[in-house]
Amino acid sequence: MTEPAIQPILQGAPAGFAIPNGCFDLAVTEVQHYTDRLFRFRVERPASFRFRSGEFVMIGLPNAERPVMRAYSIASPSWDDTLEFYSIKVPDGPLTQHLQKIREGDTVLMRKKPTGTLVLDALTPGKRLWMLSTGTGIAPFASLIRDPDTYERFEQVLLCHGCRQVAELTYGQQIVAATHADPLVGDLARDRLRLFNTTTREPYGVQGRLTDLITTGAIYTHLDLPPISPADDRVMICGSKEMLTDCRDICLNYGLEEGANNRPAEFVVEKAFVD
Ligand code: A2P
Repeated sequence: MTEPAIQPILQGAPAGFAIPNGCFDLAVTEVQHYTDRLFRFRVERPASFRFRSGEFVMIGLPNAERPVMRAYSIASPSWDDTLEFYSIKVPDGPLTQHLQKIREGDTVLMRKKPTGTLVLDALTPGKRLWMLSTGTGIAPFASLIRDPDTYERFEQVLLCHGCRQVAELTYGQQIVAATHADPLVGDLARDRLRLFNTTTREPYGVQGRLTDLITTGAIYTHLDLPPISPADDRVMICGSKEMLTDCRDICLNYGLEEGANNRPAEFVVEKAFVD
């Protein structure tokens, strides 16, 4: 069976296009490009849409009879009145080759039901929360660091973001700066939230894969913190498939147990989707 042809129809749903069952059609309110591989966009938030900070939804475009939908973490906090997403651009990616061209006023499809395991409820109480992310895997943490609940549950929040190049760190750095200045969470975040950046393919202050920096202990030296332990530390992980496997192994080696929505434990894992 041949796939329906995908036409990049970007200004609103085309005449006669039926919004798929279970989807919202949402107007794009803002687009910002960071590099030739990364951009973010905001869409209007339907009044009936509720989610927990850290969850993801399926996103698509009204450009085919059966639109290609991909999972995207919501990068804005649950109290925000618009929804933000942070995306990779892949030249031949089934969705992102078109999505990267969206502009203000275009329409994006979003399935109505959010889900995900990178939620505070999937973790047992602890002292420190480690957020380990690579690439666009920072998106769910961009949501969680702006949620006051995060600081009610943890005394210290370590947002760790590893990228290939320095320019790919900008999004996270801007979100952290905005969080530190935010009237709702700024006071708590200035006291409790720290950003740790590393690059792998360009010189930077700290260089190397997050996993290597944890294994060698360099990250603890840099942050002046003790190694991750089941007693004090909780970990959320979001990145590529290989990164998740490596980080999961690290957590298991430290003696942490993997949690889920219905069974909170000491660490949780989610793939930073999309191609
Ligand atoms: P590297 O440059 O060594 O591949 P990507 O843009 O491909 O998603 O990668 C984002 C960052 O994640 C890069 O710095 C990359 O390093 C790093 N990375 C890739 N695989 C792993 C892994 N298994 N564990 C930790 N970091 C990884």
